[in-house]
Amino acid sequence: MTEEIAVVPGDGIGQEVTPAAVEVLEAVGEFEFTEADAGDAVKDETGEALPEETYELAASADATLFGAAGESAADVILPLREAVGSFVNVRPARAYPGVDALRPETDLVFLRENTEGVYSGHENRLSEDLSTLTRVVTSSASERLAEFACEYVAEGDHDGFTVAHKANVMRETDGRFREDVLAVAEERGVDADEVLMDAFATHVCLDPEEFGVVVCPNLAGDVLSDLAAGLVGGLGLLPSANIGEENALFEPVHGTAPDIAGEGVANPTAAILSAAMLLDHLGYDEESERVDSAVTGVLEEGPRTADLGGEASTEDVTSAIVDRL
Ligand code: NAI
Ligand code: MG
Repeated sequence: MTEEIAVVPGDGIGQEVTPAAVEVLEAVGEFEFTEADAGDAVKDETGEALPEETYELAASADATLFGAAGESAADVILPLREAVGSFVNVRPARAYPGVDALRPETDLVFLRENTEGVYSGHENRLSEDLSTLTRVVTSSASERLAEFACEYVAEGDHDGFTVAHKANVMRETDGRFREDVLAVAEERGVDADEVLMDAFATHVCLDPEEFGVVVCPNLAGDVLSDLAAGLVGGLGLLPSANIGEENALFEPVHGTAPDIAGEGVANPTAAILSAAMLLDHLGYDEESERVDSAVTGVLEEGPRTADLGGEASTEDVTSAIVDRL
């Protein structure tokens, strides 16, 4: 059966890098693509950043490829992650030969809790002076993330994982998260250690090779994985996967890059590596590895876009990757 892939390019460079990822998918397999709108442009037209049909499409497709949304990003990506029932955001951050990286020895994967923490939407402006936020942490979400982490470790070539938290201060919320994650690891016989997330921020800059798979609460995973992007050479390289029980959504970590949008010079690598994660998720392991090594080859030998010090266009880089396939 041909798998249906929802394609939601969104705004800005999402319109440029998402077609590049589709081109790569077309080069390695037979898929049925259905495109849908989301983001600022469709909001200007219709008043809604995420049209109902886009939500339904993401909820029903075998997988979704998303680009980026502009100012309406939160109104698009949070419901889209919900549409696919995603409970974990997988964010690899690895340095590539040929790419000028601050820390070339970096090879990390963040497994970020994707449904709760401080992003659960319980925010209130109570008075002129006071705003509050209720942070939600459940054992069910923490344990589900930990189960995923254990499987991830078992399937890959990792020794175990590190859980990053701040349970010394947030004893009830991060305390629960830490306890639940470590308990599942112990039950499953997976090696797990822990680190305070602020100390991690320093430590990962100094000695990134000390870490591999890092399991974190929602906000911490968001911030720390962007920090890791800085270590490996920029946002144009980082893919991500939002995995749910039955469904999943794949997207570059970067946004719409308004400073370069429309010029055809965006780096398509993050979007194409997101497509490689999509292939892997759908069981096309061999195709996923082929895409990965084509990308690695082009990063090493060029052509390169301006963010990596080159002069190539999005299309040049995409064609070079497709040629290697
Ligand atoms: P950004 O990721 O769009 O851009 C940050 C910097 O990185 C810019 O200088 C940009 O040119 C560069 N950059 C990013 N991706 C690149 C690529 N593929 N190739 C070459 N250079 C690249 O983040 P920023 O500027 O904070 O946000 C811009 C807009 O994107 C905002 O409206 C924000 O709301 C939205 N956004 C959306 C996200 C999403 O849809 N998931 C995530 C992050 C931001
Ligand atoms: Mg972010």
